[in-house]
Amino acid sequence: MLMVIFFMDQNLKNLSLLEILDIEKLHNVDKPIEIANGLPNECYTNTNYLAYEREKIFCGKWTVVGVGSSIPNIGDVKPYNLLGIPLILIRDKNMSIRAFHNVCSHRGFKLIDEPCNLKNVIRCPYHSWSYDFEGNLVATPHIGGLNNHKSEKFDKTRSNLKEIKTKTWMDIIFININSNEIDFDEYIKPLEQRWSKFINKDDQKLIVYSNDYGYFNLEVKCNWKFAIENYCESYHLPTIHHELNKVSNINNHYHIQGLPNRFAGQGSNKYEQPVKGNKKFNTFPNWEKTMLKNSEYIALFPNVMIGLHVDHFYVFWLEPLTMNKTKEHMQMYYVGNESANGEEFKELRKENSRFWKEVMLEDVSAIEGMQEGRNSPVYNGGNFSAVMDLPTHQFHKWVAANLVN
Ligand code: FES
Ligand SMILES: [Fe+2]
Repeated sequence: MLMVIFFMDQNLKNLSLLEILDIEKLHNVDKPIEIANGLPNECYTNTNYLAYEREKIFCGKWTVVGVGSSIPNIGDVKPYNLLGIPLILIRDKNMSIRAFHNVCSHRGFKLIDEPCNLKNVIRCPYHSWSYDFEGNLVATPHIGGLNNHKSEKFDKTRSNLKEIKTKTWMDIIFININSNEIDFDEYIKPLEQRWSKFINKDDQKLIVYSNDYGYFNLEVKCNWKFAIENYCESYHLPTIHHELNKVSNINNHYHIQGLPNRFAGQGSNKYEQPVKGNKKFNTFPNWEKTMLKNSEYIALFPNVMIGLHVDHFYVFWLEPLTMNKTKEHMQMYYVGNESANGEEFKELRKENSRFWKEVMLEDVSAIEGMQEGRNSPVYNGGNFSAVMDLPTHQFHKWVAANLVN
C-alpha cells in the first residue's frame, strides 16, 4: 500500500495546492470562529493533498518520529517510514540520537530494514560501504578494483549519509527534514514557560520510561488530524468518555490555546493520583503545590500529544500511514530513579496503562466516525462552537496557514 502511495507522490508532487482544493475554503478556516468553517474534505480524503501535506507539514515542521527510549543503547537503530520517505534513527556513541535519510550514498540501497543493534558501523548490505554513527562514510571496499579500497579521485566526504536536523526533548524525538524551522529551543519555549510551574528543566530529567505496561499502539482507520482535533477539546467528554467524565467532569476542564500558535489542548483541575493500597507514584518535586490536581493535555502541532500529571507523563504520537490510516503510539513515563520501574509500583503501572488505553480506545469511534463523514459531498468543513471548539479551530487554522505559506 505504501509503495502505491509513494509512486503516486512521485507523479503528483508538482500539483499545486490550487489544483487540489479551492483555496477559498482554506481562507474560510481563518475567519472568526463563529463564522469559520473547518478544513475542507480534501484535507482528509484526497491523496494528492497528502503529498502536499507531507512536504509542508511533516517535512517543513518539527515532526515527531518516536521516543528515545525505543533506542536506549549505543548502536540501537530503527528505520522509520515517513509517508514513503525512508529514515533512520540511531543512538550514537555519545548517547545522542541522530536521524539520517535511510539510503546508501553509493547506488541508493535502503540501509536499515529492521530495528537492531549495530556494533560500529552502518553497513550497506549491497556492496558493504559503511558509515559510522555520525554518518561519515568510513569504508568503501573494492572501490578502486579488487582489494583496492580507495580511489584517488573519489572524495569520501561528499558521500556521507544525509543527516536530518534532530532534537530530543522529554525523550520525544523531533526532526525537521527541510531544515527550515526555527531553532527547537525557541520552538518549545512557550510550552516550557507554560509548564514551568509544573516541571522545571531539572525535573524534566527525572522522567523514566516505563518498560513494562509502558508502550502500546493502535492502528486507526482515519486521517491523523482527527486524533489531534479530538484530543484538544473536552466537549466530547460526557458523550464519549463516561467513566472519565465521572472522575474528571467536563466542568473541571479548561481549554488551552498556546501562543504563538504551536500547540493547543485542555487541562483538568480535578486530577487524582491513582492509588493501590497505600502506594502512589513519586511526584515531580517542584510542581506548584497549589496545583497538584492540575493535569494538562497538549497537542504540539503537528503530530504529538503530551499528557502531564504530577506523577506521570505520557507521549502519544501519530504516524500517518495513508490518507485514512494512522498508527497511534503511546509511551508512559514516571518520576524519579529506576525505582519508579520496580516491583513496588508494578500494579499501579498496569492499572494506569489500562486506564489510558481504555480512554484511547473510546476515542477511536469518534475519530473514525469523522473520517467516514468526510466522504459526504454536502459537508463543507463544518462549523465550530465558539466556546467548546476553540483549540480545535486553532489547530485547523495552523494547518491552513502552513499550507498556504
Ligand atoms: S548501494 Fe550501498 S554499497 Fe552499493
Ligand atoms: Fe477523548
